[in-house]
Amino acid sequence: MSNKKIIITGGAGFIGSHVVRRFVNQYPNYDIINLDALTYAGNLANLKDVEDKPNYSFVKADIRDAVLIDEIFATHKPDAVIHLAAESHVDRSIEDPLAFVQTNVIGTVNLLNAARKHWKGEYDKHRFYHVSTDEVYGALGKEGFFTEKTAYDPHSPYSASKASSDHFVRAYHDTYGIDTVVSNCSNNYGANHFPEKLIPLSINNIQNNKPIPIYGKGENVRDWLWVEDHARAIDVIFHNAKTGETFNIGGHNEWTNIDLIKLLCKIMDKKLDREAGTSEKLITYVQDRAGHDLRYAIDPTKLQNELGWKPSLQFEEGLEKTVDWYLSNQEWLNNVTSGAYQKYYENQYQNR
Ligand code: NAD
Ligand code: DAU
Repeated sequence: MSNKKIIITGGAGFIGSHVVRRFVNQYPNYDIINLDALTYAGNLANLKDVEDKPNYSFVKADIRDAVLIDEIFATHKPDAVIHLAAESHVDRSIEDPLAFVQTNVIGTVNLLNAARKHWKGEYDKHRFYHVSTDEVYGALGKEGFFTEKTAYDPHSPYSASKASSDHFVRAYHDTYGIDTVVSNCSNNYGANHFPEKLIPLSINNIQNNKPIPIYGKGENVRDWLWVEDHARAIDVIFHNAKTGETFNIGGHNEWTNIDLIKLLCKIMDKKLDREAGTSEKLITYVQDRAGHDLRYAIDPTKLQNELGWKPSLQFEEGLEKTVDWYLSNQEWLNNVTSGAYQKYYENQYQNR
């Protein structure tokens, strides 16, 4: 594999940190630059194990800042971008849609403009890989799957902003000839998942004997994929997809929220040495999410047939591994839930 300099945006976040780790370890001859603004969701502690590697570096930058992004392209001259930085939480998007437009839409266009300017004349030698979500396809009923040909039909401000960014990426391919690739993945789970999302929030609450909030009747279905399988899919797609292509990523692993939480409760009772049934008593039905999509389910046939990717873990095994990670990383959990990490970062960087 020839040398490459790759900017990975959002590398301090949940999925981004797994992608950074994979690329740093798999490709010692690549320079991996983690570009991240370190919002509440970004945490450099996610990358402690790779921070001293010679092929890893960190640049603190906000993709909403077009001038700064342009300067970073001029200074670092990246061969490729793998773009994960985003506001990622649906509930926050319902409270503050504009923040999602600013980062997910305008931030993506700022990166595309820098690529368009700095890669001009040699678009075939560079790649812009945009990481997106299955939520752009909208909601399914009880039957059917999202394929790469499913029409976009986003319902939340989050998914509308991701859909818009996907369209811009494809427009820059069609209009200017930039080499772009898009992947749309289902719900991820695993280590380093910020505890605002269902699985880590529930693990944290069960541990602390707090109610587990289930929206509506808990009948909504999500299609869960282990985060390291997503990172491996991104690796395979980045290296093998033809220009302009789209791949759906998922592993046929659908769960209603309530069944998932009941399984999680069983695992937690076992791990915490609690009597069977203790954690389930914490389940509390609360008001539904506005515009709550009923079901997501990915058809990953294209990725499996064309690029040979398959998920590696069964859900029960992956969920147990995830619980083990949270139980043995209390400090990480305490820091992100108490806000101590944010305070640390302000102290550390306020005079730089
Ligand atoms: P996350 O919220 O855990 O991390 C987002 C990262 O982006 C953080 O490190 C944050 O600091 C950074 N960031 C946010 N705004 C920024 C800005 N303006 N400039 C620079 N950096 C900024 O998100 P995640 O769950 O890891 O998701 C990563 C990507 O994958 C997103 O694009 C998301 O839409 C997509 N995705 C997520 C899932 C999922 O299940 N979590 C599934 C499919 C696709
Ligand atoms: O499908 C991919 C998407 O998955 C990603 O694009 C998003 O970035 C990611 O956040 C995730 O979105 P969801 O909205 O599906 O994830 P979340 O963990 O917020 O919710 C999962 C399901 O659980 C959903 O049906 C809402 C429900 N839920 C969530 C929370 C936080 C609850 O019932 N209670 C809760 O407290």
